[in-house]
Amino acid sequence: MTRFSAFISYSREDGALVDKLRSALNTRELSYWLDTAEIKGGDVWEAVIRRALTQSDTLLVIVTKNIIDSFVETEIRLAQDLRKPIIPLAFDDTIDGDAEIVRLLRRSHFIDFRRKPEIAFEDTASAVSRAYLAPVVSTYNVKGGVGKTTVTMNLGAYYFKRSEKRVLLIDFDPQTNLSTALVLPKIDRSKRGLFGIRSRQTRVDILPTLQETKRSALGVLEEAMRIADQSDADFDIGKYVYTLDGGSPGPVLDIVAGHSLIRRLATEASQSQAGKAIRGFARFVGQCRREYDCIFIDMNPSISVLSKCALAAATHILSPVKPDMYSMQGLNLLEEISGETDVEARGCEQLIVINDPREDKNQIVRSRIAQSAFADRLLAPELVYSRHFLAKPDRTVNPSLTFLAAYGNWGESPNSARRSLRNVAEEVANKIGLHI
Ligand SMILES: Nc1ncnc2c1ncn2[C@@H]1O[C@H](COP(=O)(O)OP(=O)(O)O)[C@@H](O)[C@H]1O
Ligand SMILES: [Mg+2]
Repeated sequence: MTRFSAFISYSREDGALVDKLRSALNTRELSYWLDTAEIKGGDVWEAVIRRALTQSDTLLVIVTKNIIDSFVETEIRLAQDLRKPIIPLAFDDTIDGDAEIVRLLRRSHFIDFRRKPEIAFEDTASAVSRAYLAPVVSTYNVKGGVGKTTVTMNLGAYYFKRSEKRVLLIDFDPQTNLSTALVLPKIDRSKRGLFGIRSRQTRVDILPTLQETKRSALGVLEEAMRIADQSDADFDIGKYVYTLDGGSPGPVLDIVAGHSLIRRLATEASQSQAGKAIRGFARFVGQCRREYDCIFIDMNPSISVLSKCALAAATHILSPVKPDMYSMQGLNLLEEISGETDVEARGCEQLIVINDPREDKNQIVRSRIAQSAFADRLLAPELVYSRHFLAKPDRTVNPSLTFLAAYGNWGESPNSARRSLRNVAEEVANKIGLHI
């Protein structure tokens, strides 16, 4: 499954209308998802619908009398929970009534098919093609040290700096490596000493301040659990993000800082808290998808509620692989997790990128992956080893983020590193549907 422009929600009795809508979308090369399951209802069905909604940019509802008391209502509620744009298509006068399901649609602008259906189909197609939601890429591998954080940080910086995109990074690893690398201590020049003379500049470490004020992943998760069951409650996104560079409107690089205490969700949450965190976090990300061009979630390698949150909210999983003798094992385990344990992640498209191929000169790992079930997920470009990607303790991060990596500089870095990052970034953008 990949990304879809629209999810079509309809009642079985309206099959003929669905066919017309499909051909209208087909003519304009707009993709759609359509539920053809015989058995509706139940947890698995709901998870499948959530996943399909996550992969779709908008929900089209065929509104006729047939949708009253049907599964369409559940689909609308799930779409609203994920803050998905909804476009009702009115084929009869049901839209003017006051059925509960119609009330759910009140806030959405409907397209009227009652008079000139040809024009209405046209309007629907243009509304769908205008709908764009940011792809959400979770960098995940069940192994540490494979380059998840490095890839997240460099792709984010690339799309911001070189493609002028609005980028959000979410640090979802209790180790907070991404935040440590990017959220810089700031020099406070505002302090004035005796007689108004500038006192010595003091360095303010921003990261602890962000964490104390809940401007972090912990703040998001606490709010997620609080409002998960209040369908109308929205996140105030501005309360949780910190701008690293750029500004609104225009290109921006924002981060939701990490917090070590989110590990508690993995170890201490009850099943009901876990469910709330997953749903609430998906809503947060769903809201953010309207504000940014692309979103990256830097995950930790655990298999836990934390990973479920990040996987459920993602449209794509990006898995860096270091080509060593254990890498196939890691991939197989990942397949098991995303395919079986985490119903939430089933159908989330995975991309595999080889990182630091120095040890695999004969491309043994690449050819092994190419012969496995993962063959079509493996990206052709690789991220090469470069000291410009390496996190070094003695190097402070370039404050203006004019970097190749967070630690190097685009202009000064060697061609090979630049080319490799550019190739990976272009290929990933292509796969996730980001126009750069
Ligand atoms: N392509 C690369 N070139 C140079 N160093 C790299 C590269 N990829 C990762 N590293 C370094 O390897 C270490 C682990 O990478 P990291 O991104 O933190 O992995 P993960 O997030 O998967 O645990 C870091 O020190 C990082 O700087
Ligand atoms: Mg990491």
